[in-house]
Formats: sequence, C-alpha cells, structure tokens
Amino acid sequence: MRIDIVSLFPNMFSGPFDESIIKRAMERDIVNIVIHNLREWGLGKHKMVDDYPFGGGVGMVMKPEPLFEAVESIKDQSNNPAAPVILLTPQGRVVSQGVAADLAQLKHFILICGHYEGIDERVREHLTTDEISIGDYVLTGGELAAMVVIDAVVRQLPGVLGSDESVSDDSHATGLLEYPQYTRPQTYHGWEVPQVLISGNHAQIAKWRREQSILRTYLRRPDIFEKADLSPEERKVIAKKAVSRVD
Ligand code: 6GU
Repeated sequence: MRIDIVSLFPNMFSGPFDESIIKRAMERDIVNIVIHNLREWGLGKHKMVDDYPFGGGVGMVMKPEPLFEAVESIKDQSNNPAAPVILLTPQGRVVSQGVAADLAQLKHFILICGHYEGIDERVREHLTTDEISIGDYVLTGGELAAMVVIDAVVRQLPGVLGSDESVSDDSHATGLLEYPQYTRPQTYHGWEVPQVLISGNHAQIAKWRREQSILRTYLRRPDIFEKADLSPEERKVIAKKAVSRVD
C-alpha cells in the first residue's frame, strides 16, 4: 500500500510513524507513507497557501492552486491518476472500523490535511473523492486525524500484526466491544481473576467472553448494541443480566 499525505506541518508525523508497529510495517515494505509539504506548492515568493475569505469573516481559507498542484504532482509521480483523494475535515463522514477496513483494501490513496477556517469549496467539488472525520469534535488540523486513520488502516494489513495479535477479536471488529482480559498474577491485592478463565474449559471460556462482550456493549454503547448481530435469545438473556447487574 502507498499512502501520500499532503500537510502544512509535515514534521508532526515524524514521532508517530518512526515508532512501533507503523515503523515495522514501513520497514517490511507493507506500506510506503510519503509525506509532502504543501508549502512547496505555495504561490509566489512567500509560498502562499491561504488567503482571506470572499464575503468576509474570520480566519483564512486554504487556496485551491497549491492543493490541485500537489495532488497532480503526486498522481504523476506515483503513476496513478485514479488515486482516491481523501480530505480530512470535521465535516466528513465519521471513520469507523468498517471505514478503516474499506481503506485497508486500497492499493493507494492520498490524504489532504485541512487547516485554518476551511478550504476553498472547489477543492471539495473537483479534487477530492471523499471526506472523512475521526469524531464529533474540532482539531486544529487534519494531521492528528490522518495519523489516527493511518494507524487504524495499517494495523489491518496482512503481515503487520503477529498472528497472536489478531485484529479479528478487536473491539468493534466483531461489532461488539472486546471482553475483559487478565494476565498474571492470578491474585493481585486480593482481586481475583474470574475462575472460568483458569478452568481450562475452552467452550466455557468462549461462552463467558461472548457474554461479557455483549454485556459490556449493552452497558457502555447501547448505540452499537442496537445494531449488533445477536440472536433473539442472546439479546433477551443479556438484557436481563444487565438489568440485574445494574440493580
Ligand atoms: Cl479530520 N480534522 C479536524 N480539523 N478536526 C477533526 C477531524 C478532522 N476529525 C475530527 N475533528
């Protein structure tokens, strides 16, 4: 996979992408992340990338020319005129595990990090193919959001996680939150690990984990619980349990 990032603050990416799993994925050539400084395509002596809004108002607006030229240059250099161009903006559709999984299917995409009060609307209409957000709050720019999206996408690529760090049990991957996990010691400050987990009975363990996932989703994320793929029995039993537990 190739991911190009167009940003006014390219240095922001050096920390997160130089560590841990993303770094390993880059070293193994599973992903090639190419960061571009939008300023390079800025206009005139001052490399201008933003300007005052027509019609007045506070703040600056990102100019179209540097963004169109940056994307054109990336499409040329990667030999992929059809690469998806995704704008990071709080106005985009919110990224879920499903959206990240869809992005993980792509061979190549270009991310544009939005800034200032906004971006010239013609960029939205004629350059980008998609707009995404990471949640209903406002960040100072798209960079942190780009890092979040890339992390969520890259960890799903084959070969990035070890076989013992599977993505299939992750919170959200199953449409439910993940079940509680425990490790040694078996007793800590008098707090015990649930007996079933040390029973060695794998069927019982699987049943307990499934119930815990459902219960936790019901209690913490009723919005996800509503949409979860549960049998009518599971839905009833769990609803009862959750009520008796709250009581
Ligand atoms: Cl993608 N950008 C900005 N500026 N703020 C956000 C966001 C993106 N997603 C959530 N908040």
